[in-house]
Amino acid sequence: MIMKTIHSYWAYIVLALLTFTVINAVIGMVKKKEFTHKEFRLGLLTLITSHIQLLIGLGWYFMSPWYKALKSNGGEVMKDAGARLLALEHPIAMIAAIVFITIGWSKHKKQVKSESKFKTFSIFYGIALLLVLTRIPWSNWF
Ligand code: HEM
Ligand code: HEM
Repeated sequence: MIMKTIHSYWAYIVLALLTFTVINAVIGMVKKKEFTHKEFRLGLLTLITSHIQLLIGLGWYFMSPWYKALKSNGGEVMKDAGARLLALEHPIAMIAAIVFITIGWSKHKKQVKSESKFKTFSIFYGIALLLVLTRIPWSNWF
């Protein structure tokens, strides 16, 4: 399925950008750096690529066997850890992660001090990264 393939490859871009944004924000916060246009562009790029991943993810999800299994045989899906991860845990956790990224992005725009902006990115994009790392179906990937 083309949607699944795109989702699978796009994930590398999202994961790389998100990781880089978080590390960059933590360094900026600790070293009290100035929040420049480079940071703005990085945060925005991470936001946009994750929104695109959301769109692709939703597109594939409703065509996928995981969604069909959930609808027709929910009880069995809940008992099977592998199926539950793909049908429920991954989609819910990733949507939550993208919500965190989006809130972090909106919050940072209203802030003025570099320190606050770095802190907001560290917390919100950081939580998103943790959610992504814990709910990627690693054994299916690569
Ligand atoms: C299911 C699909 C999507 C949903 C539910 C969604 C949701 C949102 C929400 C709620 C915001 C508001 C952020 C704010 O308060 O400022 C936002 C902003 C944004 N989204 Fe999405 N989005 C989706 C798809 C996309 C796609 C496909 C793209 C790019 C191709 C994209 C690019 C952006 C950009 C550029 C912003 C604004 C950033 C800014 O305010 O500076 N989104 N999105
Ligand atoms: C930050 C956002 C996301 C990332 C980084 C991500 C990453 C991934 C990765 C790495 C896989 C494994 C791909 C493979 O098997 O080769 C996957 C699978 C999957 N993702 Fe996502 N995903 C995200 C968001 C979403 C969303 C929002 C949905 C649906 C609402 C979704 C639905 C799925 C489904 C259904 C699969 C299973 C594919 C299959 O084996 O049939 N993902 N995702």
